Amino acid sequence: MKLNINVVLVSMCLLSPAAMATEPLAFQGVMRDLGKHMQTVAGAIANEDWPLVEKTAQLIGEHPKPSVLERARIFAFVGSNLGKFKEFDKQTHEGAHEMAHAAAEKDGVRVINALQKVQLGCLGCHQNFRAGFVKHFYSK
Ligand code: HEC
Repeated sequence: MKLNINVVLVSMCLLSPAAMATEPLAFQGVMRDLGKHMQTVAGAIANEDWPLVEKTAQLIGEHPKPSVLERARIFAFVGSNLGKFKEFDKQTHEGAHEMAHAAAEKDGVRVINALQKVQLGCLGCHQNFRAGFVKHFYSK
């Protein structure tokens, strides 16, 4: 019986995202942290604090994933654009790893080139998915 109730609840979440509109996705917290990390990186580059750049780039590259259920909801929404969505994610991860390596070598120019790659990944995904995402999950 308990199992059945859970199945019903899960189905409701999948079918009716508006029902959960008041509860932000864990995804939003991940994004907020990414935003903070990017600000930390910009400040650290200005100070040529390469250890801090390296540490923060690793946090960007290894950001936590939302739960399996939440990812299922996100992927269901993204639908046939999943390849594109994942490509932007991959670009930010690769850029972050490049940035960490460049910072370890104190190579400021390469750090900045990698930072640009990361930012283009963030921007590309936001331009393609943010508005629809916010409307779908938060009815805004
Ligand atoms: C694969 C897609 C994708 C990538 C890559 C991505 N984002 Fe996002 N981001 C989103 C979506 C979708 C939203 C809107 C979700 C929301 O507001 O809950 C968002 C929202 C945000 C927000 C606003 C969160 C809030 O409080 O409302 C910030 C800040 C942010 N992203 C930062 C970043 C940064 C920095 C990067 C790159 C390091 C990045 N994002 C990469 C998809 C992405």
